[in-house]
Amino acid sequence: MTADQLDSRLKSIRDEVLAAIAAGQSTDDLESVRVRFTGQKSELKSIMGELRALVPDEKRRIGQLANEVQQAVENALKARREDLHRVELTKRLQEEQIDVSLPGTGRRLGHIHPLTRILEEIIEIFHGMGFTVVDGPEMETEYYNFDALNTPTDHPARDEQDTFYTNAAAGVLLRSQTSTMQIRAMEKTHPPLRIIAPGRVYRNEEVNARKYPLFHQVEGLLIDRNVTFGQLRGTLEEFYRLLFGRELKTRFRPDFFPFTEPSAEADCQCPFCLGEGCRTCGHRGWLEMLGCGMVDPNVLKSVNIDPTVWSGFAFGMGVERIAMLKYGVNDIRYFYNNDLRFLEQF
Ligand code: DAH
Repeated sequence: MTADQLDSRLKSIRDEVLAAIAAGQSTDDLESVRVRFTGQKSELKSIMGELRALVPDEKRRIGQLANEVQQAVENALKARREDLHRVELTKRLQEEQIDVSLPGTGRRLGHIHPLTRILEEIIEIFHGMGFTVVDGPEMETEYYNFDALNTPTDHPARDEQDTFYTNAAAGVLLRSQTSTMQIRAMEKTHPPLRIIAPGRVYRNEEVNARKYPLFHQVEGLLIDRNVTFGQLRGTLEEFYRLLFGRELKTRFRPDFFPFTEPSAEADCQCPFCLGEGCRTCGHRGWLEMLGCGMVDPNVLKSVNIDPTVWSGFAFGMGVERIAMLKYGVNDIRYFYNNDLRFLEQF
């Protein structure tokens, strides 16, 4: 090519490249433009090769032009690269913008169920008095639920706890009381012993505001030498004091349970009106808290503990009942409906 041809070729290459650079939409586009126009196999490179054939004057003129073109392309690439980079960055910043003033999408925190809470409180109180927590099966045999608890087959107290029998095997039922754990504890541990046994119990009851076929009990048992009814009273009063946060009197009403003799219903002075009478205590001034008594010698005999050496007291309370009293709940079904309007009040 002649010098003039090279001159015009260089100028048209320059225009073409600058147009391609201006049209490039990404840094990738720019890279392919760079390779195509200035790479080893590009026309610009081959024009450089042809410079050698020119006379010195023209060589200098065309060489200078080639350098200018090269420089112009490099500058344009650099400027366009920066532009694109800025655009891409601005776009990303806009897309990923975070409004730090928006409320978070954090999880709603739940809390423990009121029954679990009262159960934990009860356990904590007795634990503080040296009682060990024990746990046992909800599916039981008649032996633990009745026979060993001095309640033989023909005993009317069995009908009272009309239970759910299973067809797992003859005489296997859902326990109707946690008193089963008295026997299981004494089979395992020789006296002296102090246990409480919290857990679910089942009774074939019609559902109403006070009754539900499933509920929870906490059983207590203390066996030692020379245990007195006064110690039972002291233990219960300490329980009431810690549960309700004040000293409260106890009232025993004679009752019957097959596994205790004598047996009683223990009431505590109403912590809300201190005996004046209010809605919680039904204007009686007393709250019915639990059943209790001195362990019947027949029960000790059933687990080969000598009743002439050992004696004890036992008690059993309904957890729902205590929760209803303490929290002023008037229908047991609220505990099982899972209605947040109820649960969130605790
Ligand atoms: N198990 C009895 C019930 O479900 C409650 C009870 C009463 C437990 C007296 C005891 C007790 O340990 O001594 O009705």
